[in-house]
Amino acid sequence: MTLEKYRQTIPVAGLLMAAAICRRQDLSQNKPPANSKATAVSEPCLADPNWIQSPSQPDFQSDPMSVCAFHQYAWRSFLFLTSPSPVGDLIFETFPSIDDVFGRKASPSAKTLVSANTKKVRSFVPRVNKPSRVEPFTDDLQAGPGGVLVAQSNDVTYYEQLLDPTGVGFVKSCDLTVFDCQAQPAAKDLRLPAGAIEVKASWVPMSKSHPNANLFYKINGFAVQRPDGSTYVPDFMALTGFHLVFATKGHPELIWATFEHVANAPDGPCVPGAPPPAPFQSWTFNNLKDTDCSPTHINQFVKGAKPGSKPPPPINQVVRVTPSGGGDPENVGDIKSLNASVLAQLSAESVWRNYFLVGTIWTKGGNLPPSTSNEAGSTLLANATMETFRQNKNCFDCHTNATGSSQAAPPFLVSHAFPFQGSSKPACSYTSTLPKACAATQPPPSPPAK
Ligand code: HEC
Repeated sequence: MTLEKYRQTIPVAGLLMAAAICRRQDLSQNKPPANSKATAVSEPCLADPNWIQSPSQPDFQSDPMSVCAFHQYAWRSFLFLTSPSPVGDLIFETFPSIDDVFGRKASPSAKTLVSANTKKVRSFVPRVNKPSRVEPFTDDLQAGPGGVLVAQSNDVTYYEQLLDPTGVGFVKSCDLTVFDCQAQPAAKDLRLPAGAIEVKASWVPMSKSHPNANLFYKINGFAVQRPDGSTYVPDFMALTGFHLVFATKGHPELIWATFEHVANAPDGPCVPGAPPPAPFQSWTFNNLKDTDCSPTHINQFVKGAKPGSKPPPPINQVVRVTPSGGGDPENVGDIKSLNASVLAQLSAESVWRNYFLVGTIWTKGGNLPPSTSNEAGSTLLANATMETFRQNKNCFDCHTNATGSSQAAPPFLVSHAFPFQGSSKPACSYTSTLPKACAATQPPPSPPAK
């Protein structure tokens, strides 16, 4: 896209645009903003045309230094991860599944798809049902992420979880597939190294006769279960949601971003009959004709119901409770202008035009454990297809290294990829000194980020 077109499509940026991009880039170089207070709200948060023309990752070795920059890291990384890899699959699709990395057997309800290009086996499950590691196994936590999400097409939503090569290198060199290593004195301060990325994606079965099938990113269908337990092979699986979580140098708590498809569900508060954006005629997870906005009706699920239960899990009426994941006006304004900026630059044929950044959350100064007093950005962040039934809090509510005791768990345990429990056998290969290769993944002691 030419610069001329880019300018016309986002007139709000006007002639300030080029200067603004430069300023934002300066900030990501770790220099504190000279005048951020005065200009932050009025200045739009923009995408660099290079993110689309030649996708590459942001520099994870330097920290984002403004609210806008956190969201820019997320969008830039998303555009890179969803660009084609040399083997044909998209870059994120070449990452190993978390179960594979940890040598875990996927759950019995998992379905698989073998990549025609790489022969990699991808694994998809209809729901997640692990409790929080730090709190007792409460109903709330079990229930929150544990419901089955059923789309308006009466199809079950499937989830895939992936870890990038930097993350895999950390797990392997620090022997963290062994549960016992989590408790070793040497592991006490271990963190996911800068550049490590975790992805969780949601997919729904889709027929080729869906009127807007060409406006979704799709992969080949595989044998899935319907809510009644019967199995069929849909034409496609369509991408509806994408958690993108990454570490930068000064952010061991990880930076938590999430993307959604524009036709998933309307923004809250619930309004009867809120229409999807053109040209979509229907929402994937919300029935336009259903006018019941009562809290006992929207974002509800039947506890314990899974594909094949009697009665089967019902079709869900979903609303995105907090647009942009909340946060202050600067945060919401930055997300909106950045989404508009990316949209204006993607080509008319790109399916990624139909995906948007809901928001991003991190902690001030990269402090741990996360708490309401140090959280920053989209402080009510949730993805309508992943935290559907528990949208009132944010990612750190479950992803924390805080423990009930005064002793916090190691920072890497903000991730739920690591084993929750296990026997102490096999024993960890180290106690008070990290293996050399593991120590090499960790930053040298330095003052915390701003
Ligand atoms: C209600 C608790 C809860 C909330 C809130 C939550 N998650 Fe998770 N998340 C989990 C659990 C449990 C798993 C592990 C699921 C499994 O292994 O089946 C998980 C897994 C993940 C994974 C895969 C890697 C990993 O760490 O296991 C990513 C990425 C992720 N979540 C991102 C997010 C983001 C981004 C948010 C906020 C928008 C969020 N989560 C909110 C409970 C939660």
